[in-house]
Amino acid sequence: MKERMLITGGNALEGEVRVSGGKNTAVAVIPAMLLSSEPCTIENLPDIEDVHALVDILRSLGAKVTYVPGEFLTVDPRPAEGYEVSYRDSQRLRASYYLIGALLGRCGKARVASPGGCEIGSRPIDQHLKGFMSLGAEAEERGGMINARCDSLTGGDVFFDMVTVGATINVMLAAAKAKGTTIIYNAAKEPHIVDLANFLNSMGAKIKGAGTDVIRIRGQQSLHGCTYAVIPDQIETGTLMIAAAATRGDVIIRGCIPQHMEALTAKLLEMGVKVSDSDDAIRVRTLGAHRAVNVKTQVYPGFPTDLQQPMSALLTTAHGTSIVTETIFEQRFKHLDEIRRMGARVRVVGRMAIIEGVPQLYGAPVTTTDLRAGAALVVAGLMAKGVTEIYEPEYIDRGYEHIEQKLRALGADIQRETI
Ligand code: EPU
Repeated sequence: MKERMLITGGNALEGEVRVSGGKNTAVAVIPAMLLSSEPCTIENLPDIEDVHALVDILRSLGAKVTYVPGEFLTVDPRPAEGYEVSYRDSQRLRASYYLIGALLGRCGKARVASPGGCEIGSRPIDQHLKGFMSLGAEAEERGGMINARCDSLTGGDVFFDMVTVGATINVMLAAAKAKGTTIIYNAAKEPHIVDLANFLNSMGAKIKGAGTDVIRIRGQQSLHGCTYAVIPDQIETGTLMIAAAATRGDVIIRGCIPQHMEALTAKLLEMGVKVSDSDDAIRVRTLGAHRAVNVKTQVYPGFPTDLQQPMSALLTTAHGTSIVTETIFEQRFKHLDEIRRMGARVRVVGRMAIIEGVPQLYGAPVTTTDLRAGAALVVAGLMAKGVTEIYEPEYIDRGYEHIEQKLRALGADIQRETI
């Protein structure tokens, strides 16, 4: 059944909101449960489509799963004999490729259909395959399937050609149970890499250096059960901060990690937004006009590509001209075509968007093309005059837990209806 979201813009968001568990941590930690020789429990998982898809995949592999959305996920991987993830399952999310690293580590073989996920660029997986091969596996992508196998995984040196979150995670998963030590050079440093390392270490893995660009993994023969809570979602936190600023509201975001938000906080301050934080909360409010700023996406701790889309929506009404440069994914400006329909003045030249601030956006029918594009359209809808109809809001459900309820509790006029 098709749905659309309806937002009547103009309400300033006010009050307090709690951040959910991190999506990009959850999608790495759930496949990692397959590496254990005992049941594991994960808490604080966001209740989102990507998590539901992975839970279904673990069940299809034969794991014993108890899942209470919003509460916990317990997985006993011992009965899991499967090593194949079908096209249908794999297409439900990008992170299905983490099953390759996890299954290689678990049973030395994996057959996973090429992943789905958001269309934001070409998204090759050559570095993942190169990493597995550095550990002694055969790995290839052919006919829409990724096949990997090995007699025994052996630790090795892995040099990535570029900083890649996905390949760093995938090699960590495979290496956790390889014989000997793996060293990943040019590793990604995102908070969810550190969280995955903490989870694996709670299972008895020996991983050092996560959060730096060299990660050392001493493989273990077996990993044990544990209970673990994932970190709060950095991108949901950022999206809520941007939404608060966009509506000239006053919002306290609780349960977040302010240190993970420094790149965004710096940009919001530069725009003239008031941002203050305490241990696990951030307050965002706007008193005067927003100034235009330039934003360039970078790997952590730089400005996250996942916040580029909501941020560029916010900049469409800032005073002056902003230049947004997207360095990670080449097709991550599709949301701007939609926001242009709402009155934004934007020109995209290659990897650069030149945004000339206008005084006001106006509600219009728009279509979501990917998860964060959806978040950007929600931000635009909240600031616009009149009603914004957002088609294909299901993309947003892949990564934002109960977004309408959270925004409604802050005073937004937002609903969803079946069409
Ligand atoms: N790349 C390659 N070869 C590879 C791997 C990556 O050329 O083998 C390139 C990519 O094309 C891209 C760059 O390297 O240009 C970085 O890609 P990365 O591997 O870091 O991204 P990813 O693993 O595909 C994850 C998140 C994305 C997030 C990026 C960057 C998951 C499931 N996905 O993607 O999240 O944007 O890291 O932080 O964790 C989202 O949440 O909306 C989302 C897209």
